[in-house]
Amino acid sequence: MAKALTDRVSEDVAALASATAVAPTLAVILVGEDPASQVYVGRKIAACQKAGIISREHRLDHATSQTALLDLIEQLNADPDVHGILVQLPLPKGIDAGAVLDRIDPAKDVDGFHPVNVGRLSTGSDGLVPCTPLGCMLLLESVIDDFRGLNCVVIGKSNIVGKPVALLLLDRECTVTITHILTRGLQDIVRTADIVVVAAGSPGLVRGNWVKAGAVVIDVGINRIVDADGKQRLVGDCASEELGHASALTPVPGGVGPMTVACLLANTVRAAKAQRHVA
Ligand code: GUN
Repeated sequence: MAKALTDRVSEDVAALASATAVAPTLAVILVGEDPASQVYVGRKIAACQKAGIISREHRLDHATSQTALLDLIEQLNADPDVHGILVQLPLPKGIDAGAVLDRIDPAKDVDGFHPVNVGRLSTGSDGLVPCTPLGCMLLLESVIDDFRGLNCVVIGKSNIVGKPVALLLLDRECTVTITHILTRGLQDIVRTADIVVVAAGSPGLVRGNWVKAGAVVIDVGINRIVDADGKQRLVGDCASEELGHASALTPVPGGVGPMTVACLLANTVRAAKAQRHVA
């Protein structure tokens, strides 16, 4: 699905270039040397290249001041050749992420983290939607025709995944329960779910006996663990080997992650078209 979406975005980029000479451009800002963030940013930039989207990398030292970062964002906001701005999170201690995200022009906010886009999502109006939740919805739509009235349990309450995915599911007229790692009776709540979206950052949290037969499970977790034999391995938030009775389960790695990247490309082209008033 991620490949199909990336191919569609590539076609869109080519059509846009021939019709309007607009080259969708994404500015990616990475502050510091967080190893996971470096991997994610590398993937995003490689995906842009594949789709014909121009990427501009801004790799800043971990000691960069908040003022310098805000100045860079202002510069990118004012640059008509930049259509999308992404600040990779987390930011180093001492930088107020909220203040940084607030500064991004909502029209260029391809992560959908600006309060204006968060507000639009919460009121069901048109705005840029965060990439991981968007990818989760596309995955769910591939196996579910009618969402109305389904019981959805979201585990995780982050601004990046839990809250926005809950709003998207609510917009499809699901009955949504937002839970988290401290929720009392979590297993019993999850057992009621037709759809489980887990983004808790807790390896193996969702066990087989938590999930009813036929449920659809989206595992957003990505945890690095050390195996009994001392090898490092990436695992999700589900005990996936116990979930054979689910009707569908996303793998980790290779499930939600590639969809997030593909949705970022789609959001960038969407932002470029909107800024250039292309339908
Ligand atoms: N860090 C973890 N997920 C994300 C994401 O979707 N966007 C950004 N900018 N940072 C992240």
